[in-house]
Amino acid sequence: MRKKVIAGNWKMNMLPNEAISFITELEKKVKNTQNEVILCVPYTDLFYCLLTAQGTNIKIGAQNMHWEKNGAYTGEISGEMLKTIGVEYVIIGHSERRQYFAETDETVNKKVKAAFSYGLKPIVCVGETLEEREAGKAQEIITTQTKLALEGLTQEQVNHIIIAYEPIWAIGTGKTATAHDANEAIKQIREKVEELYGKEVAQQVIIQYGGSVKPSNAKELFETSDIDGALVGGASLKVEDFEKIVNYNQ
Ligand code: PGA
Repeated sequence: MRKKVIAGNWKMNMLPNEAISFITELEKKVKNTQNEVILCVPYTDLFYCLLTAQGTNIKIGAQNMHWEKNGAYTGEISGEMLKTIGVEYVIIGHSERRQYFAETDETVNKKVKAAFSYGLKPIVCVGETLEEREAGKAQEIITTQTKLALEGLTQEQVNHIIIAYEPIWAIGTGKTATAHDANEAIKQIREKVEELYGKEVAQQVIIQYGGSVKPSNAKELFETSDIDGALVGGASLKVEDFEKIVNYNQ
């Protein structure tokens, strides 16, 4: 049985004092869940969040990293830097980074490999645009992105990766893919993983859905056969919403 993994993606929101209050409040509400709870926070909140989340079941992740260990890359943060302060997860290839910061399938793959080399668990995002979906290309896009993101990884690494299927047209728009459509897309990703790494790995790999997940649609999405949780943007900024998504089965 795969676990449900609910990860918040705060994007460029939350000051340290807000982050500390958020985690202090959230911790009390999610301490009994069997689901995995992750918050991916801005770099400037990481240290505060790690300290506040210590001894709780809330895991902390970053939202991006560079693939090099160190060097002349002004403004960048490496996987080693994240791991050293205690970060466990890192989002890689979010569509906003692909769209606004020139991330490509190639840089995504480099970052995924670098994340593993430092013992970080990557949450790799894939997803199609509305035009691609309307042109009937969704399946091709998401399976190709998956293949390129995983290129060169070992079976053991793929066992520990999290893939987030995030149709771009559903992110921050209030439009959620129907549970059926999201589940179908995630099945296609799982089939791709099976083709590349075999059935056992495919049955184990966590594949989340992301795009306007909220308390009112979480349960329906999570009760499908293949959706293993969510990457939550907007609704991860309010404790009462995020807590309800995490506790969808209570
Ligand atoms: P949203 O964002 O939940 O606000 O749609 C999801 C994401 O970008 O990860």
